[in-house]
Amino acid sequence: MDLFIAGFGVIGQGVVEVIQQKGEMLSKAFGQRLRVVGVCDSSSYETSKRGLDPSTLIRRKLSEGKVGTKPFDGDAERMLGSVDYDTLIEVTPTNIQNGEPGVANMLTALNRGKHVVTSNKGPLALRFKELSRAAEKNGVQLRFEATVGGATPIINLSRELLRGEKILSIRGILNGTCNFILNRMKEEGLPFAQALREAQDMGIAERDPSYDIDGVDSACKAAILANAIFHLDRTYSDVKRTGIRGVTEEAVSLASEEKKVIRLIGEISSKRLEVAPRLVPIGHPLSIGGTRNIVQIHTDLAGEITVAGRGAGKFETASAILSDLVALLKDNQK
Ligand SMILES: NC(=O)c1ccc[n+]([C@@H]2O[C@H](COP(=O)([O-])OP(=O)(O)OC[C@H]3O[C@@H](n4cnc5c(N)ncnc54)[C@H](OP(=O)(O)O)[C@@H]3O)[C@@H](O)[C@H]2O)c1
Repeated sequence: MDLFIAGFGVIGQGVVEVIQQKGEMLSKAFGQRLRVVGVCDSSSYETSKRGLDPSTLIRRKLSEGKVGTKPFDGDAERMLGSVDYDTLIEVTPTNIQNGEPGVANMLTALNRGKHVVTSNKGPLALRFKELSRAAEKNGVQLRFEATVGGATPIINLSRELLRGEKILSIRGILNGTCNFILNRMKEEGLPFAQALREAQDMGIAERDPSYDIDGVDSACKAAILANAIFHLDRTYSDVKRTGIRGVTEEAVSLASEEKKVIRLIGEISSKRLEVAPRLVPIGHPLSIGGTRNIVQIHTDLAGEITVAGRGAGKFETASAILSDLVALLKDNQK
């Protein structure tokens, strides 16, 4: 299966490393090789019908700051048409204003009959229906396990393994940064601002942390789950959202007296779409500390299924992308 990778930052590089590492095993298992025939970053691109060498791409990106030898002039449609491929791996930055450049890249690929695998939340939290329709119309797949919790395989589990079940609701911690901050407030009695500073110093929170702490990231993920699993047509702004800025030391300590913790919980069902701080009893699976993500899927037959794992990171996210690629390889075998 020939791949074009749009975006060569942390995740794009993680994906080529994983393809290099697992290539042999995958070709034995599926009788098909994963071959990178195109790659781009914000200013350059490289293509080769015979396949690009992953080590050369990474070396060039690290030494020259560019993945390709050809300048990328911003005409993504032309660049994505310059080589034939089967699947676009779309790993450009998440943009929650208009979803670009992800939306245009994905639509270009889907409308040319190419599968799309992505970790980019913006397009799916804003234009889910349009993208899904384009995939359906062109008889290809749009797969996005990596958009919600890097190493917490919630989407494929719900849509594939639990396909015979009725999923009643999903609740969970969808943002590791908020969880780290809330946990530090409880464990060390820190005020919010100090716990946030600590998270920023450790590289867990961005210098502009609003995307995480105001619940936008969690709301994007909640909207994606609502669309993918409950077949709704929602954008992230349809999610009722309260972040964690207003969580005080006093509230955390009062909760603690009642043997509870405060956690930023996303709640998704056909009737409810909300992200807000909630009281969770200590010992309950959702009282988890650290930066992990955790999700509980409530179904009619299985009852409660809990999935926990690292929500972000180079290889954790590449793992989710790989799971989507494996699903495509499996389908190709049929
Ligand atoms: N990092 C994580 O742990 C994680 C987890 C889950 C999901 N995600 C999502 O995965 C995506 C990639 O994340 P990342 O951490 O790899 O981001 P990143 O390190 O910032 O990399 C983004 C890449 O996209 C390139 N790019 C920017 N604008 C572009 C354009 N117009 N056309 C083509 N390429 C363009 C950048 O080019 P330059 O290199 O030239 O700047 C860079 O190579 C994001 O949507 C993110 O939200 C990330």
